[in-house]
Amino acid sequence: MFSTTQKIGILGGGQLGKMCCLAAADWDFKTYILDPTAGCPASQVCTGFTQGDFKNYDDVLAFGRDKDVITIEIEHVNTDALRALEQMGKVVHPSATALDTIKDKGLQKLFYQEHQIPTAHFELFDDEQALLAAVEAGRWNLPFVQKTRTAGYDGKGVAILRTRDDLKNKLLPGPCLAEALADIQTEIAVIAAKNPSGQVVTFPAVEMDFHPEANLVEFLLCPARIPSLIEAEAEALAEQVIRALDVCGLLAVEMFLTKSGELLVNESAPRPHNSGHHTIDSAVTSQFQQHLRAICDLPLGAGTQLTGAAVMINLLGEDGHQGPVNYLGAAECLALEGVHIHLYGKAQTSPFRKMGHVSITADTVEAAVAKADFVRSHLKVVSK
Ligand SMILES: Nc1ncnc2c1ncn2[C@@H]1O[C@H](COP(=O)(O)OP(=O)(O)OP(=O)(O)O)[C@@H](O)[C@H]1O
Ligand SMILES: [Mg+2]
Repeated sequence: MFSTTQKIGILGGGQLGKMCCLAAADWDFKTYILDPTAGCPASQVCTGFTQGDFKNYDDVLAFGRDKDVITIEIEHVNTDALRALEQMGKVVHPSATALDTIKDKGLQKLFYQEHQIPTAHFELFDDEQALLAAVEAGRWNLPFVQKTRTAGYDGKGVAILRTRDDLKNKLLPGPCLAEALADIQTEIAVIAAKNPSGQVVTFPAVEMDFHPEANLVEFLLCPARIPSLIEAEAEALAEQVIRALDVCGLLAVEMFLTKSGELLVNESAPRPHNSGHHTIDSAVTSQFQQHLRAICDLPLGAGTQLTGAAVMINLLGEDGHQGPVNYLGAAECLALEGVHIHLYGKAQTSPFRKMGHVSITADTVEAAVAKADFVRSHLKVVSK
């Protein structure tokens, strides 16, 4: 529904929530944020802010009662409260059921297996001791990957185990899964959108380059430097996943393109995604507007093709800097054509904290990469 008076509630007030609110403001849509932190990024631009815990049943239920449409910017929310809101007739996207599957990496992997969605071989374990026993029994051989089932983000719940020492020092506690180490050629992500009427539209695949230490995406290119047949296959796979999960709104599907040319789904996120930030500046329809269209059951924007090439870099807090933030070199970077700086409104920086991003648009990926290199070496997030 296109309505400038309906109330859209968003669980989580980080940068994804902030950029959703900014997109909503283009259409005078009213946005309300629930987040534990007063002054969080989205609180600075939303229509109304409620301080509270999106993991707490009562907080989410109370927040949702007077909203018309409820969505999220983070998966780790209280889904029992969302289910209660659904039963009260509220529009909730993504659904509590889809969120329950996605926020547990074990259930997510089982879902892919059940739906014949290609994914790396895996096994679930009650805890790290059970995993160690499987290693001792010869069922899992190094190297392989261990992931915690819940509460992982930004690579924090992932351990790549290569040596016997890693088994002693790197193993993560609690319920987990072991996963075969994929022989990765390129990591890509495809963002799909689906509305309740069943229309699905995908954005072109983006290529993700990771920061070696922080395990955060640092550098992102669109179009991805992969064969066009694989690109088409990746978009079709993302459509298959969003239809299978029956998510309304966005679903970002992270995939590995292996050296043998196979696509494996790594994981999916039912919300705007870091890999889609460039669309604000490089596509006719941004991922944030697409999310709003999808959750409000409006026609999806067909303008997902890029108007040119784009490179996105995350602005991470410099190592060794903690405290009130200062951005060095921004003016020099803005002197370059096609440089778009987006800051998230976080007052304090800390090492590797995501403080903002920069999208660089150009006619070709090579030209955009050259400018991105300049931005990377000149724009620094430091403390005052
Ligand atoms: N099976 C695998 N084989 C090889 N590398 C892997 C595998 N699983 C994960 N990785 C590496 O670890 C990274 C983080 O894994 P994953 O995306 O599952 O975790 P995450 O904590 O949810 O990360 P994020 O929040 O950054 O998306 C991947 O992008 C990839 O580089
Ligand atoms: Mg990931």
